[in-house]
Amino acid sequence: MKNNITSRKNFLKTSALLGLGTLALGIEAKDLAEPKHLAKPSDNKPTNGKFELAPLPYAYNALEPFIDAQTMEIHHSKHHQAYVNKLNEAIATDSSLNTKSLEELLLNLSKVPENVRGAVRNHGGGHWNHTFFWKSMKLGTQMGPKFSTLATSSFGDIDKFKANFEKLAMGIFGSGWAWVVLQDKQLKIMTSANQDNPLMDAGKEPNRVPKILLGLDVWEHAYYLKHKNKRADYVSSFWNVVNWDEIEALLK
Ligand SMILES: [Fe+2]
Repeated sequence: MKNNITSRKNFLKTSALLGLGTLALGIEAKDLAEPKHLAKPSDNKPTNGKFELAPLPYAYNALEPFIDAQTMEIHHSKHHQAYVNKLNEAIATDSSLNTKSLEELLLNLSKVPENVRGAVRNHGGGHWNHTFFWKSMKLGTQMGPKFSTLATSSFGDIDKFKANFEKLAMGIFGSGWAWVVLQDKQLKIMTSANQDNPLMDAGKEPNRVPKILLGLDVWEHAYYLKHKNKRADYVSSFWNVVNWDEIEALLK
């Protein structure tokens, strides 16, 4: 089996480097090239200087019985809302930030002024990750041919892909995310701590920005009400709610 797993250690090592950039005075326009595969920047731009929490694309109980309605409601209306609020507080302090799209900020994180970089990383990451997460889930879809072909060529077969994803998701110490990305024409599984994600400072290599296909929130707030301390049950049940239609659309 090809080893296509980017270990948490390596990813976190990369993430750690994000904080080592020199103090930046602002984001230069030339640094803001956005890969075409990302969402339209206008989708994630603040309105009058503020980001807004979009409604879920389905009802809170739409993912029952695999993810319960109470968890979804608290996760979206409390946790996600808090990331949006705190991100807005951070960008309100700098007029060079509150007109940028969320992708522009994250891709060039080390160029965000140091005094708000940590807040943009944590809360901007939280806003992007959860916005993506909600769209990643839907009941009743089936893995499509494009993803299936990629997973087989990258991991050997679908079962091995799933086993690798679950193993990496279970291996995250504390809070974080497991990701499936397309990079260099291969599927890769990545993990990140806290609200980091594979886009952060990826603008340094515009031709290698990973296309994020799937993300799994393994913070306890995502599963504790239903699964208590059993993260493995939550991770294995996640396959029932993956929105494979959305992934297939991302691969077009
Ligand atoms: Fe979360």
